[in-house]
Amino acid sequence: MKVTVVGAGAVGATCADNIARKQLCDELVIVDIKEGVAEGKAMDLMQTAQLEGFDTKITGSTNDYTKTANTDVAVITSGIPRKPGMTREELIGINAGIVKTVAQNILQHSPNAIIIVISNPMDTMTYLALKSTGLPKNRIIGMGGILDSARFRYNLSKALNCSPNDLQAAVIGGHGDTTMIPLTRLATYMGLPVSNFLDEEALKKVAADTMVGGATLTNLLGTSAWYAPGAAGAMLVESIVRDEKRMIPCCVALEGEYGQSDICLGVPVVVGRNGWEKIVDYKLTADEQAAFNKSADAVRNMNDVLATLSL
Ligand code: LAC
Repeated sequence: MKVTVVGAGAVGATCADNIARKQLCDELVIVDIKEGVAEGKAMDLMQTAQLEGFDTKITGSTNDYTKTANTDVAVITSGIPRKPGMTREELIGINAGIVKTVAQNILQHSPNAIIIVISNPMDTMTYLALKSTGLPKNRIIGMGGILDSARFRYNLSKALNCSPNDLQAAVIGGHGDTTMIPLTRLATYMGLPVSNFLDEEALKKVAADTMVGGATLTNLLGTSAWYAPGAAGAMLVESIVRDEKRMIPCCVALEGEYGQSDICLGVPVVVGRNGWEKIVDYKLTADEQAAFNKSADAVRNMNDVLATLSL
């Protein structure tokens, strides 16, 4: 199994680190445009092999995609991250050109690769990757809902004073501060609705904190987060390469599911060796569906901006 991570910044390097520690592949290639950075990160990570006990062979490449040939899964993290006060959406002008080029470069050398998009604004970048490559929809997966769901569980675990591992909770919709939808109604603590333990006000705070989870970290760090985004990317890779069939909220192409079409948006999907294999229907209430439609409208507006860019 061969995995490529494009972008050796904080998210890409953390994702690569998780992939190697979990030994998800025999070969891991890191690509970056900055001369020597990918090679340096690959060398640094390889020097953890004996300490961590993994056998994955990691190499770095400065923009030479021939080294990525025959990749099974490619993770695109390239582009600029947001700074405090910025929305993910403000990154579109710069990141669209980068994501389009990277996806094409990957496919030129690995026509069968499954592509995971992490670059922001992620829902629109996933749509762009799908449209510009013409790949079958199952091979393009946007990473957002898995990260937002992990943040949802973190916030719930603090409110409940429990382990995040005993919680089930999903965030669907867009990966934006105002477009994501933490599904409080369906969140459970070992099978019991979290509303058995938390009142409405506490649940609203958990949802609100979850929605600005990325922005909160950006304000603290001066740039966007990387540990959870990197780990979330690696978890997706894991479900693919090990054919785990995990059910994970991901950004995928909708063709009528959840009442939406011609858009990539976060819904629960089963992820396995073929990419995302099926969409699971949460049977939303009218209010949840209205929020989902509103999220779709916002993402669609952002997708429309793509047509105004010279890509
Ligand atoms: C975040 C970025 C990766 O949510 O979108 O931290």
